[in-house]
Amino acid sequence: MTSFPHTRMRRLRGSEALRRAFSEVSLQPSDLIAPLFLKEGIAEPAPIASMPGQFQLTLDELVKQGRELAELGVAGILLFGVPTVKDALGSEAWNADGIVQQGLHALKDEVGDDLLVVADLCLCEYTDHGHCGVLRGEVVDNDPTLEAYARIAVSQAEAGADVIAPSGMMDGQVAAIRAALDDNGHAATPILAYAVKFASSFYGPFRDAAEGAPKFGDRRTHQMNPSNVNEALREAELDVAEGADALMVKPALPYLDVVRAVKEHTGFPLAAYNVSGEYSMLLAAAERGWIDERTAVLEALTGIRRAGADLVITYHAKKAAEWLI
Ligand code: PBG
Repeated sequence: MTSFPHTRMRRLRGSEALRRAFSEVSLQPSDLIAPLFLKEGIAEPAPIASMPGQFQLTLDELVKQGRELAELGVAGILLFGVPTVKDALGSEAWNADGIVQQGLHALKDEVGDDLLVVADLCLCEYTDHGHCGVLRGEVVDNDPTLEAYARIAVSQAEAGADVIAPSGMMDGQVAAIRAALDDNGHAATPILAYAVKFASSFYGPFRDAAEGAPKFGDRRTHQMNPSNVNEALREAELDVAEGADALMVKPALPYLDVVRAVKEHTGFPLAAYNVSGEYSMLLAAAERGWIDERTAVLEALTGIRRAGADLVITYHAKKAAEWLI
């Protein structure tokens, strides 16, 4: 009685109502976080050539986007600052009047609790060499970089960040940031740890958007080897032990097995970052008419949710939210 012709799998696929009712995962605007780039010293939003539909924003435009995303029911924004002044230490990153701090203040004034404002914490947009920390020779020096990260975290929390998201892949970064936040009156500010971040080709377009490409070398001494899933579980465990409140896997689509493994292993709230290259590939194919943007985007985002991500950080967030509501 359990096989054909008694069993017909097509019965539950026969109408939109049936398909919707028996859908195993949902995709809602409230599952999505939109990464946005705030650029210092521009008068108009600047289109990002390698990311069709994405812009480096002015402060006014950022606030406007924040309001629109909140109205669409999107969960939050992941904010990146692109400063005009860079130096070897990346000191603009902890300037109380720096570009990202201005953006955090303005967003919180405008959207209050209607939208989560997550601050990406890294140095690559702020250093003149484009590396994610303090250099010793040509290598990022782990422990002095932690001191800088601690200072940045406090300054972002003071500017109003709801969540701090360290993305530099330094060892001990979550512990250093947790201690600094706690010592400075921000014990209630959560950390969304980029626990599992691979050294990926798919960050290419982002480096145009955030102007943070390394001037020499690459990030393979701190970001993970794409072949490793056991190591991903160790990274996740360590960030949990250091006090992370939620975890992230990045990129998303080439690493759905890692998303699933980290979710099952930790049970922690989990975000997956559908990164710039994943966005640009899909948009490029859609522009050529080779793929249907809307159905492909919703399928990709649903796949990331099915793999086990509670939240999807994606440049498709706004359009997807418009399609979903
Ligand atoms: C900064 C950072 C990067 C991304 C997010 N934060 C780039 C990198 O590590 O080189 C990539 C995001 C994307 O590609 O969308 N460390």
